[in-house]
Amino acid sequence: MQALTRRGLLVGIGAAGGAGAMYAAMGALGLAPSEQDKAYTPPQKSDFHLTGKGAAKVVILGAGVAGLIAAYELGKAGYDCTLLEASDRAGGRNRTLRGGDRLAEMNGPTQEVRFGDGVYFNAGPGRIAQWMVTLDYCRELGVPIEPFINNNAQAYVNTHGQTVRARAARADMYGYIAELLAKATNAGRLDRRLTRDDRERLLEFLRRFGDLGPKLDYEGSTRRGFMKYPTTDGGTPVAPPGTLQQVLAAGTGRAITNDFGYDQATPMFQPVGGMDAIVTRLKQAVGEDRIRTGVKVNKITNLPDGVQVTWDGGEFKADYCIATLPPHVLARVPHNLGAAVTSALRTPVPVAAGKIGLEYGRRWWELEDRIYGGITETDLDITHIWYPSYGFHSERGLIVGYYTSEKEAELYGALTPEDRRRRALTQGRKIHGDKYGRDLQSSVSIAWDRQEHIQGGWVRWPAFDSSFTLLQRPSGRVYLAGDWLTHLIAWQAGAMESARSAVTQLHQRVLQSA
Ligand code: ALA
Repeated sequence: MQALTRRGLLVGIGAAGGAGAMYAAMGALGLAPSEQDKAYTPPQKSDFHLTGKGAAKVVILGAGVAGLIAAYELGKAGYDCTLLEASDRAGGRNRTLRGGDRLAEMNGPTQEVRFGDGVYFNAGPGRIAQWMVTLDYCRELGVPIEPFINNNAQAYVNTHGQTVRARAARADMYGYIAELLAKATNAGRLDRRLTRDDRERLLEFLRRFGDLGPKLDYEGSTRRGFMKYPTTDGGTPVAPPGTLQQVLAAGTGRAITNDFGYDQATPMFQPVGGMDAIVTRLKQAVGEDRIRTGVKVNKITNLPDGVQVTWDGGEFKADYCIATLPPHVLARVPHNLGAAVTSALRTPVPVAAGKIGLEYGRRWWELEDRIYGGITETDLDITHIWYPSYGFHSERGLIVGYYTSEKEAELYGALTPEDRRRRALTQGRKIHGDKYGRDLQSSVSIAWDRQEHIQGGWVRWPAFDSSFTLLQRPSGRVYLAGDWLTHLIAWQAGAMESARSAVTQLHQRVLQSA
């Protein structure tokens, strides 16, 4: 009798139960990507055919990514959506600054953006992982994308006042870790865990991982790079590595693990020409006439048959509401959703975040440092320096001179734009030398915690507890959405997934309502 193979089983299930059953079985066997299992189905006009019902009227508070996606998805089924946005522009934290823009700040001066043609600064989101729904929207909306270089061996690591290339930091750390483990293995220290074959296999890997010598020593490696790269001669290697103790004391570990996370793994992507291409296309798809800016809602009232929202000088009634304001901002808007909702909204803690864009007339990081994109990691308060993943070899270019959060963001946010720039330059010189201060054309800095109507880079939930799940469900006819209602906080993908969840719940309800 033929043995029952996994493939045979799947074909059998497919024949009996159709493709859906087969994919479910594949998921159970770990063969299909399980994150794809709960596929999202957009509402569509034909959903109403059998019910005799029609799409409802929905008021959406906030025209950031969550609000725009909610309107876009509901629009597919003909819902009549109106977006009320407190600020003078749509997009929320998805903001790309270009020459001619103005950036206002609460209790601070307005900055005039003076970048040259073709130079842009993604002041908010800047990178997208391959598995994120954000890329599906880029595809669907026709937003072209290009790689975002999140990890560059040629960038620097600056810790404890020392600057080394990331490739050298990585080679040394991997090298010494491999040496330690290989020697412990060889000395029989791991014999309780390893068979003889395991030992051989592990040693084989560690030799490669650390580029170890015949005696399992790490003695440096060409992986560390060269002062002068090999050409017709063998080149000049960089100075040999420090000792294990020196390498550990240098504290370079932060820089060699930053892209290990599932959300940071390389390659990542960015829209061509600026992150706000997503907003531009969404606005077009939704219809600009549905977005009313400068409307700051000051009351939300759940009624038996709808939701009433009011603002200074106006009011609007709809069948349903989707509120996409940050929780700490929404908590301050009077409503009749109940004390549990107010208290849940106050649970997540706003986190400060900030960035500075430094525009240079000369791409010295390419010309002199030979760095094409990527990020320098540092324990200085600027935390990271991002080199642009676009405009290679053009005349001007913009680097992100700091990208900070929490305490460091509060520190920079409290300074004037002038002083932020001065401090960022002082810190950057410690890594790149005097050229960091030369050829600077202009700069703009954002402190998200000082942006009116937003007041934070993102939020931190002390725990994803019952407050979190309470707010994922509607209160009466009011639904909430935003990255802060997902486990993808500080990602546009979170805002998008949350909007899809609110839309799905709302649409199901409309279809089922009497
Ligand atoms: N999503 C944010 C980032 O990419 C936190 O840095």
